[in-house]
Amino acid sequence: MTSNYGRELWEKDKAHFLHPWTHFDSFNADGALVVDRGEGSYIYDVDGKRYLDAVGGLWCTNIGLGREEMAEAIAQQVRKMAYASAFVDLTNPPAAELAAKLAELAPGTLNHVFFTTGGSTAVDSAFRLIHFYQNCRGKHDKKHIISRDGAYHGSTYAAISIGGKKGDIVPEFDYKRDTIHHITCPNYYRAPAGMSEAEFLDFLVQELEDKILALGPDKVAAFFAEPVMGAGGVIVPPDGYHRRTWEVCRKYDVLYVSDEVVTAFGRLGHWFASKDVFGIEPDIIITAKGITSGYLPLGAMIYSDAIHETISTGDPNRLFANGFTYSGHPVCCAAALKNIEIIERENILAHASEVGSYFEERLDELRELPIVGDVRGMKLMMCVENVADKATKETFPDAINIGKQIANKCDAMGLIVRPIVHLNVMSPPLVLTKDEVDFTVETLGKGIRAVLDDLVRSGDWAASA
Ligand SMILES: Cc1ncc(COP(=O)(O)O)c(C=O)c1O
Repeated sequence: MTSNYGRELWEKDKAHFLHPWTHFDSFNADGALVVDRGEGSYIYDVDGKRYLDAVGGLWCTNIGLGREEMAEAIAQQVRKMAYASAFVDLTNPPAAELAAKLAELAPGTLNHVFFTTGGSTAVDSAFRLIHFYQNCRGKHDKKHIISRDGAYHGSTYAAISIGGKKGDIVPEFDYKRDTIHHITCPNYYRAPAGMSEAEFLDFLVQELEDKILALGPDKVAAFFAEPVMGAGGVIVPPDGYHRRTWEVCRKYDVLYVSDEVVTAFGRLGHWFASKDVFGIEPDIIITAKGITSGYLPLGAMIYSDAIHETISTGDPNRLFANGFTYSGHPVCCAAALKNIEIIERENILAHASEVGSYFEERLDELRELPIVGDVRGMKLMMCVENVADKATKETFPDAINIGKQIANKCDAMGLIVRPIVHLNVMSPPLVLTKDEVDFTVETLGKGIRAVLDDLVRSGDWAASA
């Protein structure tokens, strides 16, 4: 930070704000970049430097920042009623309208909505709903959850335990392990050498079935899956994976939970990816982020008629004892309604699909670079995997922090790309233009080349490595 004001904020933050996912070592040394303003796909730091935010905040600023119409809708609702409880038998117009709208947009029989404060609390609520549902059916042992290595489902106790990202499992935290199990990440780039994609797919599907059989179908309650894994490295599973795993779940009466916190609301060119991209109708969809394009915090768990029928009938004294002060918050729901209206009116799904295909195509050019091992993703959810050796796919030592080094070079050139270990991940606003795609790809390419030059100079990398 160059200004006094910037420096002051940087110091206050460093002294008092425990950030999500703080790496204490580097935070104590470097503090945080203070970002202050946003407009469309751009953010500005407190000193006025402009960056193209190719991360879209945190996979969420779908319609872009700084929209007057959003500010107005939010302000209007604040003036009218800033807060209303939704507990038991109270509701409010934005919450009722939004629940109906989500039921209309969600696939098939997913007609029931439970509102939360974000993705993690929606995953946590799904975890609890699954228990509730199985107990209502008298299936008291059917409580085990299957998830995947590399999955990210949020950071409540249940959500982080369902997640399977190695880096998120740290010795200082505890995790729920007794009823949560993980199977192989569907990342073909890291599949055993010599295995074809079709063989890998067969292996993954069989592994799920074997896991259900090993635990006992009467014990397995649900399978959790992101349509495209996000924080775990933007992993698009082999073609047919979702359909076949969903069929296995159907066969054994295992609920299929699709975590669409990132993939819904247009990131893959559709409202929801489960049905429209991958051809499945989950029992539960989790969503958040793009539901308000990050303007306000909101999450939702959308679940099927069949689940609702089971939980809401039978015992007249039954109480769904789950909920938050801010479930169905009127201002957050008003923001979501306006966000959806804008997506519809501006035809943003079609735009995202078209620009997303262009992004896929252009980013693929970076494969030519000597340390780019893989370029993957779908539409506006993309990633570059950097490796020390393209033939063996060996990664750089953690100490080199390759993703972060590349992100730093890009920062200096006015582009934000998210480093996740050796990856650089992107999920830009859906309003990104083709020119901005060009800038993103060209700047990222320059960033990778610049780091490569540094590594060659320092002797940490050589072409023959
Ligand atoms: C797939 C997925 N699920 C759940 C979450 C958690 O959402 P939140 O951070 O809103 O709690 C995230 C957040 O990145 C996510 O990517």
